[in-house]
Parts: sequence; structure tokens; C-alpha cells
Amino acid sequence: MPRAEMLSRVADKDALIPVITDRVDDEVLDAAPNLKIIANIGVGYDNIDAAAARRRGVIVTNTPDVLTDAVAELTWGLILGVMRRLTEGDRVIRAGKWNRWSFEFMLGAGLSGKQLGIIGRGRIGRAVAEKAPAFGMTTVFARRERNGAAGGPLAQWNEPERGAGGNRAEAAAPSAENDMSLDQLLVTSDVISIHAPGGPDTRHLINRKALARMKRSAFLVNTARGSVIDEEALIWALNERLIAGAALDVFEREPDVPAALKAFDNVLLVPHLGSATRETRTAMADLAARNVIAVLSGNPPLTPVP
Ligand code: 8YV
Repeated sequence: MPRAEMLSRVADKDALIPVITDRVDDEVLDAAPNLKIIANIGVGYDNIDAAAARRRGVIVTNTPDVLTDAVAELTWGLILGVMRRLTEGDRVIRAGKWNRWSFEFMLGAGLSGKQLGIIGRGRIGRAVAEKAPAFGMTTVFARRERNGAAGGPLAQWNEPERGAGGNRAEAAAPSAENDMSLDQLLVTSDVISIHAPGGPDTRHLINRKALARMKRSAFLVNTARGSVIDEEALIWALNERLIAGAALDVFEREPDVPAALKAFDNVLLVPHLGSATRETRTAMADLAARNVIAVLSGNPPLTPVP
């Protein structure tokens, strides 16, 4: 819905169900004096000024859990795709450039025996880790120190948090032993996959300095938020061949994808498809609707944001 239309139509509404492309800020909230709930379709809610909603007593909900498997599945698709050069191979055939089989043609990187570094130890990061043993990969995590750490938001990623957990994949993915600092993870991992929320705390967490710490043979995968990677720094790192490749589902200025990124054969690009299965999108819409019904019936929301 165009913004002007949303601003006028929200005027008499009790509930708003936005998607990622709808920015819900003070302007929208001012235009919607009756609003009781914003039921975001999406687990990420960096499109919503949750603090502004809270100040007005408007409840904000998101759609966790129902999309965890879909995003984890896409992540593995991207890992396989970039390491085994799937989309690149497809392009070669379509361009009529495959003339004969040859021994060293389009050699990729194997997954088995490699280390997967997951940034963020939430539901999706753990679901990705659950599938790693099937590919013979070991997993390590860098997670945010929730109690805060000196040195600002980025420094929070450098000290592992101990002793939390108790959720689904915690059993499959061993607990605190495979937590490491972000720097250790960057230096030692063969594949680095981002599963951290967007927003100011993680903006450009992966910058020039971080990319320069990665192995030259390592791949970077992002299905979280484009803002977590400094795209200009990524282009620099790819040009300098500081990393082996990247697979990206999310971008800093969607739907704009820099021409420089499109020019790399070792970069796999998909248009924000993490939760894009029929089953998952249906479940997300359903959960958002159930949150609205609960709140407008005077019950607590099912999945309020923290
Ligand atoms: C959605 C997402 O496509 O859940 C999220 O955070 O990014 C995606 O699953 C999008 O948010 C839909 O609004």
C-alpha cells in the first residue's frame, strides 16, 4: 500500500498488519489515534518504531517460530548454491558456454569437514545449526552479550554469553562450548551465516575490518537483514579477493542491489525469499491475524515483541 494511502486509511483503524516494506513510525502512529495493535508480518520488526508504539500504549507483535524452518532451509540452499556454484553453472548453460566436460571445470568448495560460523544464537541460527551434521559440518556461534558490554553495540558480540538456552535446537547444537567471540568466529570459519536481528545494534557489524579477518577461502551468507553487512565493504572485499564468495537474500536498500554485486560470479543473489513458501507465508499471515483478534477481544497478544 502506498504510504499516503496507508496514512489516510489507518485513521479510524484499531489494528494494523504491516509487512517489511511498511515503515511504521511516529507519523503513522499520529495518524492512527484508535490503534491498539500493530501485528507485523515478519519476525524482524526493524520497520516498526516499537518504542514510539510503546509510548502510546500500542501493542506490537511479530511472527516468530512459524518461519524458522523456511529461513533455515533457504540458508542451506544458499550455502550449497554458492559453494557448489549452482546459479553460476545454470548461467553458464543458459549462455551456451558449456562446450565439453573437463576435469577442472567450475570446481567449487565442499561442505563436509568445514566449520559453519553462525552469528546470532536465536531460533533461526539454531535451526540452521541443526542441519549442519547432515552435511558433515561443525558449528560455532557468536552471540550477543545481552547484559551489555563496554565498548558499544559491536563489542557486545565479542564476549560470548554463557549459560542461557533451553530452546529447541539447544539439544542438537551443543551449548556454551561452541560459543566464541565474533572475532574468533570470523578467523576460523569456512562459512559464516548471519542470523542476527537488524537495527542500530547490528548495523554494519560486518564491515571492512570484519571481512578482512575472514579466511580467503570463506563464504559469507546473509538471510537476516541487509543492514548487518556494509555492502560497500563487501564489494571491496570481493574485489580484493579477501573472501571466496557471498550468498545474499537481503540487501541494504531493497529492492536496489548494487550493480557491482551483480557483476561477481561468486555472489549468489536472491530477492528476500527467506520465508517465501506458501506454507510459511500462510502461517505468518494467520499468526498476525490471531494476534489482532486476541488483542481486540481483550486478551493478551500471542507473540508480543520483547
Ligand atoms: C518477511 C522477514 O518476508 O520475517 C522477517 O523478518 O524478513 C521475512 O520473513 C518479511 O518480513 C515480510 O514482511
